[in-house]
Parts: sequence; C-alpha cells; structure tokens
Amino acid sequence: MPQLLTLSRAARLVGASRVALQLKIRSGELPSFDGMVAADDLLRLYPDIKLEEDGGFEQVREIKERAFGRRVRERLLPSQEILSQRLYEQGLELADLRAHLQRYHAMMEAVRSRIREQETQPGMAALGAYLDDSLAEVLGAAEPPNALSVMDDMLRVMSAHVTLRPSGHDFFVEGADTLLEAALKAGLAVNYGCSNGNCGLCKVRVVSGEVKKVRPHDYVLSEAEKSQGHALLCAHAAVGDLVLEALETGSAGDIPQQQIVARIKALEPLGEDVRLLHLQTPRNNRLRFLAGQSATLAAGETSAQLPIASCPCDDRNLHFHVERDAKDDFSRQVFGALRAGDPVTVFGPWGDFVLRADSPRPILFVASEAGFAPVKGLIEHAMSLDRAELLHLYWHAARPAGHYLVNLCRAWADALDNFRYTTMAGGCAEDIAARMAHDHADLAAFDVYLAGPEVFVDATAKALAQQGFPADRLSVTAT
Ligand code: FES
Repeated sequence: MPQLLTLSRAARLVGASRVALQLKIRSGELPSFDGMVAADDLLRLYPDIKLEEDGGFEQVREIKERAFGRRVRERLLPSQEILSQRLYEQGLELADLRAHLQRYHAMMEAVRSRIREQETQPGMAALGAYLDDSLAEVLGAAEPPNALSVMDDMLRVMSAHVTLRPSGHDFFVEGADTLLEAALKAGLAVNYGCSNGNCGLCKVRVVSGEVKKVRPHDYVLSEAEKSQGHALLCAHAAVGDLVLEALETGSAGDIPQQQIVARIKALEPLGEDVRLLHLQTPRNNRLRFLAGQSATLAAGETSAQLPIASCPCDDRNLHFHVERDAKDDFSRQVFGALRAGDPVTVFGPWGDFVLRADSPRPILFVASEAGFAPVKGLIEHAMSLDRAELLHLYWHAARPAGHYLVNLCRAWADALDNFRYTTMAGGCAEDIAARMAHDHADLAAFDVYLAGPEVFVDATAKALAQQGFPADRLSVTAT
C-alpha cells in the first residue's frame, strides 16, 4: 500500500508550490489518487530531496544548536504542551507499529518451526530454504531511511494539517498560532469577529482530531456545544491533524461593517509622491476584511476612502498608499500634520473588488498608478492561496516614479515561478490590452482585475472588450 500524501503536504515536503505539483499532475508526470499523491512517485520526481537540505530539518538543527530567542521559538514551534502531546501521539503510533512487527516476527518463527518439523515431506525443505534466504535478505538489508517519510513525521510534530468542511480548503498550523491566525495566513476567509474570544463568531465543530485551548475566552460554549465538539478558532490550537466544520465567507457582503480607532504606526515615503500610511488597530479590535477592499479613514476634520494595500492575514496592521494631492484635505494631512501615534478612525470595509472564490483560472492584474494598492492586496492573497497557475501583473504609470514599489514586484517575480511582472511606462488603454492579448493568446481563459483612476479603468475595460475579453471575468475598481 503506497504512502499517500495530500497535495499541500507533498508540496511542503519537496519545497514546491501546490500549483507546481498540480501542473505535474495535469501533464501526467505525477499520478494522483483522489487528489492524493504517492510518496514513491514524489521521490521519483524529486530524487534529490535530502534530509539535511530540507528547511524544516535546518530549523530543527538550529533549535538544537542555538539558544533561540523566545519570539523565534514561538514562530517555529508549538507550545510545550502541544509539542509533548504530538510527540506522545507519535510515540503511541511507533509503539503500535513495534507491537505489530513483533507479532509478525513471532508468526514467522512459528511458520519456520512448523516447516522444520515437516522437512521430510516433499517440497518442505525447499520452502524452508526459500524462507531462510528471504528472511536473511530482508533482515540483513541496510536501507537508508526514506527521506520523505522521515520528513513527513517531523512535519507532523512541527505543524498540524487542518481540512475545512464543506469547502475542502486546507492549511497548516505552525508555531504558536491559533487556528484563526493560521487560517488567515493561508488566505482563507473563515468566519470571525473580535479575534479575542468574545463574540463566538469563529465557532467551528471539530469533526476529527484534537484541539487545545491556548487563549482565554469570555464567550461561553454551552454544554451541548462542547459535547458536539465545538471550539473557537481564535482561542484554540491544533494538537494534531484536524478536520473542522467551519463557515467561510462567500462574498464581501458577508463581512459586517466595523468602526475602529487605530493609531498611526508609521508614515513612510514610497517614492516622490506616494506615502505609506501604516495603521495599527488595538490588539482586541481588528479590522476584518477581504483583500482588495477599501476603508474610510478619518483623521481630525478630514476623511478619505482608500483601498487597503495589506493582507487580511495581518488584520492588525493596515497599509494604505496615499498619493500627494494638494486639492485633497486628507492627502495634505498625510503629507503634512499627521505623525506616528496619532489616532485615525477606520470605517469599513467597503467594495467587492475581491478574488473570485475558488476560481480555477489564471489571473491577470492591471494597475495604474496607486491603483496598485488594492491589486497588491489581491496578489498577496492569491499567493497565500497558492491556487492560480499564473499571476501576471501589468503596472501602468505615466512616469517611472509612479511604479513606487517596483522592487517588491521584481522580488515576487524572482521568488515565484508562477508570477510575472510587466512595467507599462506611459501608453494608452489600447496599448495595454494589446500587450495582454499578445502575451496571452488565450486571454479569455483568465480572470482579470483592473484598478486605477476611473478614466483609466473605463478605457481599459473597453479596450479589453474589443480584444474579445468576456465582461463577466473582469473585476474593476476605481481608485
Ligand atoms: S472571533 Fe470572536 S470569539 Fe473568536
């Protein structure tokens, strides 16, 4: 019976993306069995996997050899209680396996002595010799350990794999993360509210596996809920692999409007005419939103609606890209009076410029000037989900300074096989649509997300339609 692995686990073991493995399955290089892949097939495709080169092993070696700071230990390892429980579970598995082997050994001994007793019977001597030879071969073989199997065992100690029902989405829980933190980092839009154990909105049912309370919570689970296996994502961590029944957000409309007073953590220049406004919410009152949405910010007498440029996976730290505009009061504040520590009230989130849920299609992003902000959120979300075969960003700006985070885009392109970046310096909407059609002959097979000034998005949408791009695959936001 081959050892079967989920695609997520297999991707982590060989250090590839899930998308890369999916492509290999599609091309027939990697057989799959009901969405799982066999460890032997993986080893055949990635024969160079060595334990000592694996990142996880490197981490373990460092943990062994260095006095790690508390923060680093927390990032890498679960709490001592969970770690010891996982080791205990593995110890049980090992003991069971050992007992199994001992029973097989005893059975073989009994068979061997039976054969010896009847060696005078025809064929029995040959059968005895065959058994002796086979046993000598099996017991004498000094095979190196199966690298994938060892790594998989270690991965189970370091992290837990969680599958959500009914969606089938999955993620890993690492370090001291709660289930909620881990799900958000994986780009999943699970249902939640306060993030700190008060509202009960993150309640899930544990179908299989064991969870452990790691944060106190005021929300009271009834006895009936407890007996049915309910738990709070924001207050529990995974002891081992889990299957959870959980509500996930289907659309932007499912997210309630919120009002939060945040503080400015930093104000930093991004090029000549754009500033990064970094807000931090209180620990116990974070903004729940989907990547690509906007929020209204109010500081003093001024306010503005701006796209959120950061990822919902870090819902305490909100980033906004503010363009210099002498006619806009809020922009003048950001480039003038506002300082780190000042309060800013955040209302929202707004808008439905979000990734299409579970779309299997590759994605093209088109941003003009600071229309890059919501697109950045979408790209980071798509990267966390690791589902799209290709992500291609076209960033249009009238001047070179308009590509104010060009290094980030280049870093993404360097780091990820499935990310491409094209700078569009000047040019009109027709030029961009023509370039996209030239790069992608199968343009209609993509989802397209388009963000920028209203005139730009209207013209580009029209130019894409002229290229035959279907309107229902186009998502647009004017910034
Ligand atoms: S999010 Fe409110 S209790 Fe978990």
